[in-house]
Amino acid sequence: MTAEVRPVLIVGRSGQVATALLRAAWPAGLRPEARGRMELDLTDPAAVQAAVAERPWAAVVNAAAYTAVDQAESEAEAAYALNRDGPAALARACRAAGLPLIHISTDYVFDGQKDGAWQEDDPINPQSVYGASKAAGEVEVRATLPQHVILRTAWVFSDSGHNFVKTMLRVGAERDELRIVDDQRGSPTAADDIAAATVTILERLLSGRGAYGTFHFANSGTTSWYGFAQAIFEEVAARGQNVPRLTPIPTRDYPTPAARPMNSVLDCRRIAQTYGITPRPWAAALSDTLDSLLPEPAAAQSPAIQTTKGAR
Ligand SMILES: NC(=O)c1ccc[n+]([C@@H]2O[C@H](COP(=O)([O-])OP(=O)(O)OC[C@H]3O[C@@H](n4cnc5c(N)ncnc54)[C@H](OP(=O)(O)O)[C@@H]3O)[C@@H](O)[C@H]2O)c1
Repeated sequence: MTAEVRPVLIVGRSGQVATALLRAAWPAGLRPEARGRMELDLTDPAAVQAAVAERPWAAVVNAAAYTAVDQAESEAEAAYALNRDGPAALARACRAAGLPLIHISTDYVFDGQKDGAWQEDDPINPQSVYGASKAAGEVEVRATLPQHVILRTAWVFSDSGHNFVKTMLRVGAERDELRIVDDQRGSPTAADDIAAATVTILERLLSGRGAYGTFHFANSGTTSWYGFAQAIFEEVAARGQNVPRLTPIPTRDYPTPAARPMNSVLDCRRIAQTYGITPRPWAAALSDTLDSLLPEPAAAQSPAIQTTKGAR
């Protein structure tokens, strides 16, 4: 007789975190099953209810969101539909089915004005429509479903989906110089590491050894977008490819529709104390992601000549 394997509903399929959840190492008794927007539209409460009731899920993970931060400024209705009303419907359905929900949230619920790292109970004060819609989603989940974990993370990157690493690789191959913001600080975080933390949380919750509530998870160490870009292109150069010249600039020289927190650094002590999850350094996680994005270094090339396309 084989042991029972219980499915876990992953809301989202092709997103960074959803993809990472699907390829994460799951314990023998749990198996992820994803529903992308074509199969489960999070903005349709009846579809949410039906999906949660459809199977004897062990738990639900919400990895879906409206994540186009600048576009959200002009599409507030769509952002709130997905980031507030979707999680609210999901939390109601989970409550009815007696299921725990892990809901992924963001550093953008904070205003970025604190000197130190943000703790879970610090007051939120989002500065963008995206941040406000995600904050509203948190409020709904907390009010509706006691069996929730809200996992806030930051600066997510992966070898799939849209993210800063992939953007740098693309524009770095096209241009001789990149001007990158150097006065916003945060912790770049691998989607694979968020997925591994989520699996650990679920395993503990489902065996009665977990705790509900809000937790921060980000890879360790902090940098700026400029520092992040430097690390990316150091790895690119080490793999024998040309890299652009990088110029640090202040946020005011790179205006965007949505305001970003100047300090996005998350204090991750609570998840370490409660779940024993200690994030690895962001640079190590970056190196793994670049290994899957970039070809092996060409042995014949010398790093000494791998600078810019003639600009340096
Ligand atoms: N990206 C970041 O830097 C960052 C930073 C902090 C926190 N977060 C949070 O981390 C979580 C995951 O972000 P991500 O970067 O993995 O997102 P992403 O790559 O932009 O993917 C978005 C996901 O949302 C799903 N989705 C979009 N519209 C939907 C709808 N109407 N119904 C159901 N699903 C829908 C997509 O479904 P399909 O699979 O069908 O495309 C996709 O799986 C989000 O909660 C986000 O707020 C992200």
